[in-house]
Amino acid sequence: MNYKAPNHIAIIMDGNGRWAQKRGLKRTKGHQKGAEVLKKISEYVYDKKVKVLSVFAFSTENWKRDKEEVDYLMDLFLKAFKKNFDVIKQKGVKVIFSGLKEKLNDKVINAMEKMTEETKSNKNGIFNVCLNYGGQDEIVEATKKIAEEVKQGSLDISDINNEVLNKHMFNDLPPIDLLIRTSGEYRVSNFMLWQMAYAEFYFTDVLWPDFDEKELDKAIESFNERDRRFGAVKK
Ligand code: IPE
Ligand code: IPE
Ligand code: MG
Repeated sequence: MNYKAPNHIAIIMDGNGRWAQKRGLKRTKGHQKGAEVLKKISEYVYDKKVKVLSVFAFSTENWKRDKEEVDYLMDLFLKAFKKNFDVIKQKGVKVIFSGLKEKLNDKVINAMEKMTEETKSNKNGIFNVCLNYGGQDEIVEATKKIAEEVKQGSLDISDINNEVLNKHMFNDLPPIDLLIRTSGEYRVSNFMLWQMAYAEFYFTDVLWPDFDEKELDKAIESFNERDRRFGAVKK
């Protein structure tokens, strides 16, 4: 079979805590290992002809966790941004973020803005980091922006369609082709609800810190075996 690259892969990187607990380690150790895995995957995925990689780094619901874990994660993001930045720049990948800035600290916001600014002209791929992200929030925010434009008179209600909605999301992204969730959970946890309308789902029991290039290959192989009909009947 000819290789079909999913244009947009999205990953719910789950299972860091359980990975650590199984080893008698603190949950934060799992996050540390998880960040290393993400570095490897983000370096590999564009070689597989994938154009967009979206990852769920922190959900709007994750603020419910202990302060110690949340603080650790924010710190880890900062470190990971610094560590991965050179490779991403070298590869010519554009970094973007999806989510709300509110509640994030200034250091994290500054680092995010710097990465976005310095990679904005890159053309070899898009790395979309979903941080303080909620799929329902994203749709609410888009609705507010659209309502404001209608109120101001720059947009006509009859011109609102899927494309307009897409343009008002945190980022104007192509639809997700392949959604991967690790750790044996079968739910979407408020991730990219709009963009996953016709995504193929791939669930694996592998915990995120154990995920690697081979596991990604398996997910893409599975995607290649899918018959995507988009509601039509194949002749
Ligand atoms: C995913 O791993 C990472 C984040 C949500 C930030 P978890 O921390 O959810 O790990 P489990 O699900 O508790 O094992
Ligand atoms: C989803 O994982 C969020 C991220 C991977 C960042 P969670 O572990 O937070 O999701 P639930 O609680 O199992 O739904
Ligand atoms: Mg989890």
